[in-house]
Amino acid sequence: MTIAVCGLATVGATMAAWLLERGHRVIGVDTDACKRGAILAGCAPVTEPGLEPIFAKSVAAGVLSVTQDLATVVADPVVDTVAIAVGTPSADCGGLSLDQIFAATDAVIAGIERRPAQSARVLICYRSTMPPGTCRDFLLPRLEARLGRIGERFEVVYHPEFLRMGHALEDARDPDRVVLGERFPGASRRLNGLYGNTRAPVIEVDFASAELAKMIDNTWRATKVAFANETARLAIASGADSTAVLRVLTTDKRHNLSATYLQPGLPFGGYCLPKDSAGVAEVARTWGVEAPLFASVAHSNVAHADAIAAGILEQFPEGSALLLVGLGFKPGSDDLCESPLLALAELLLEAGIKLAIYDPAFATPAQWPADLRHCWCDKPGLANVSAVILGHPWQDAASRPLAPVIDLTHLRSLQPALP
Ligand SMILES: NC(=O)c1ccc[n+]([C@@H]2O[C@H](COP(=O)([O-])OP(=O)(O)OC[C@H]3O[C@@H](n4cnc5c(N)ncnc54)[C@H](O)[C@@H]3O)[C@@H](O)[C@H]2O)c1
Repeated sequence: MTIAVCGLATVGATMAAWLLERGHRVIGVDTDACKRGAILAGCAPVTEPGLEPIFAKSVAAGVLSVTQDLATVVADPVVDTVAIAVGTPSADCGGLSLDQIFAATDAVIAGIERRPAQSARVLICYRSTMPPGTCRDFLLPRLEARLGRIGERFEVVYHPEFLRMGHALEDARDPDRVVLGERFPGASRRLNGLYGNTRAPVIEVDFASAELAKMIDNTWRATKVAFANETARLAIASGADSTAVLRVLTTDKRHNLSATYLQPGLPFGGYCLPKDSAGVAEVARTWGVEAPLFASVAHSNVAHADAIAAGILEQFPEGSALLLVGLGFKPGSDDLCESPLLALAELLLEAGIKLAIYDPAFATPAQWPADLRHCWCDKPGLANVSAVILGHPWQDAASRPLAPVIDLTHLRSLQPALP
């Protein structure tokens, strides 16, 4: 295939080299004359191990060319895929600037408009990091306004790049996962074909999920660094050994370095997590260590609880009858200590909701606070409730023709879903 790659810095240059290694022809596009000049001289436009020999060989073999005119490249019917890897630097407001993305998209549109009739559909593959909603709310409307419906003259995939600088080609050759944001799974099959022999899982999701996944991936890594550094500062101040402390943390692969505790759902609760996470923030204050990340954990938990309550109350006004499944701080436990469901129940009652509460971990309501005992329900009747709030998993919710369910155990949405 002949593939246009627009933006020849780390991401674009690495993708170009990776495609060339696989026997494709590449037309590189960049507005920066220095980068184009470097490639024409058989050099790499950025410093990354392994790129230079591939570029030198490919330019000599005539399978890599460069230009600054993206529209003319896309107008050529031999090109059926264009990758866009231009910059999305920080904007003045703190978000990401999409100016380069829009400029490149407009050039692609101009090129597609000039393609001869009957030319193949162009796959536009965005590789730059972009905020969730960019493809769906900005790029697709822009493309469709001039080119007609997606799927006719063009297709779009958002294919985020996860490489690490200094290991870019190595990561492109052996990715941990290939993420494709598409309007439906398989919409970008030609690109998928490029990855036909990858060992990595191919994750096909909607555009916004792929866009957010890329930003969250970097935020996760940044948070880990900040967490380790706050830990280290607190260790130094309190006379602990930071390396040993973090070794204790990372040696637990089951709970700490895993997907455990990394699932959407309820706020955290129970005896230990609220107490110790708030406690460590206080310890930092005592030792004079600025630890904003630790200090914000409790705040984040409160914000999450507030969002859940607000989401429910927005849909169910005063007087609505709701069934809450679960009250203990986790399923199967009769511990109410810092239970987010207890706090939610009290808040819903205060707001005038008629609440029935079912939690089989409690034999009687005697352990419940007095203000909740009238909500006790051991055989939930479902005919008269407007919705079921699943605070704990409950198989019966799916197996009976019941009221709509708001599933807080997965938190896909606060909108009620029919069981
Ligand atoms: N650098 C990384 O390690 C990395 C890793 C993953 C994702 N990303 C993301 O990928 C994107 C690209 O990052 P980068 O570091 O490769 O590039 P960059 O931002 O350093 O440079 C962008 C390149 O695009 C060129 N360009 C801009 N507008 C153009 C246009 N209209 N036509 C042609 N060329 C144009 C520029 O001249 C420049 O060479 C960014 O969104 C970045 O956040 C970067």
